[in-house]
Amino acid sequence: MMEQKLRPRRMRISENMRAMVRETQLSVKDFVYPIFVVAGTNVKEEIPSMPNCYHLSVDKAVDQAKEIAELGIPAVEVFGLPEYKDEIGSSAWDMNSPVQRAIKAIKEAVPQLMIVGDVCLCQYTTHGHCGQLCGHYVDNDKTLALLQKVAVSQAQAGADIIAPSDMMDGRVAAIREALDENGFTNVSIMSYAVKYASGYYGPFRDAADSAPQFGDRKAYQMDPANSREAMKEVELDLAEGADIIMVKPALAYLDIVHQVREKINHPVAVYNVSGEYAMVKAAAANGWIDEKRIVLETLTSMKRAGADIIITYHAIDAAKWLREENL
Ligand code: PBG
Ligand code: ZN
Repeated sequence: MMEQKLRPRRMRISENMRAMVRETQLSVKDFVYPIFVVAGTNVKEEIPSMPNCYHLSVDKAVDQAKEIAELGIPAVEVFGLPEYKDEIGSSAWDMNSPVQRAIKAIKEAVPQLMIVGDVCLCQYTTHGHCGQLCGHYVDNDKTLALLQKVAVSQAQAGADIIAPSDMMDGRVAAIREALDENGFTNVSIMSYAVKYASGYYGPFRDAADSAPQFGDRKAYQMDPANSREAMKEVELDLAEGADIIMVKPALAYLDIVHQVREKINHPVAVYNVSGEYAMVKAAAANGWIDEKRIVLETLTSMKRAGADIIITYHAIDAAKWLREENL
């Protein structure tokens, strides 16, 4: 019988050996936790399709932000449900809207917590599209001027990072210019550079009341079949001044995350979106999967693919699990 000499299993012999040779280490510092803010006070209502995620009034959002900071999570991303909607989404830059008030209150209460402001119009327009309409077409260049107002209002409220998610052409350059003109040269831009027209956003659209009232977003978000186009979007956003490049959704697009990581020297973020979260929560509630194991494995795969930043609704649970595991 031939003698076996090459034994990769030696490196898997015990937990400490595996820990010593582990190539990817998930950390609480990788996470961004998204929150949904609403008007009123003392509101904390669970979102049905996103168990353990809530609609929070500003006071409750501040409590949540404190918990997030205590867990060591470095950032929150703030989404909002406005009190009024119109054709152009003007509540998106109203300083009295829940998002602007929440950003200000969180910054005051927990100054070290980084605040990411999501810049888009779909939550604020009556038609639910991400920009200003011209007939049934979303007018790119008219929308840019509106996005500039949203970004500046969020920076004024105290946002550290502006994250445009609308997929209009030229929005990064437009937002950079507006931020700089208003003195916000240190506010960075995390661009949803590669955002696919995805079925995985379903629970979010219910949570944020942002579903398009006619048609779909395929004329601005990307075709899930394309990867070369992703690299084109990344190149353009970097040329326009993006500081961080995001790929969204995460799990079905880890090949794209890997390609982007190989190609650029900027930080890469992934958005582990609502549909990915809902599937895990549903299967776990049925006892079909081990939630902790599945979540940590999935988030580790995102990091292994090349993500520096992981925006995830699992952040709070994952932070607690990593602490339990002494990681
Ligand atoms: C708004 C926006 C969406 C998400 C983040 N910002 C939805 C969309 O484009 O329809 C999705 C987040 C998620 O599903 O968790 N443009
Ligand atoms: Zn949108």
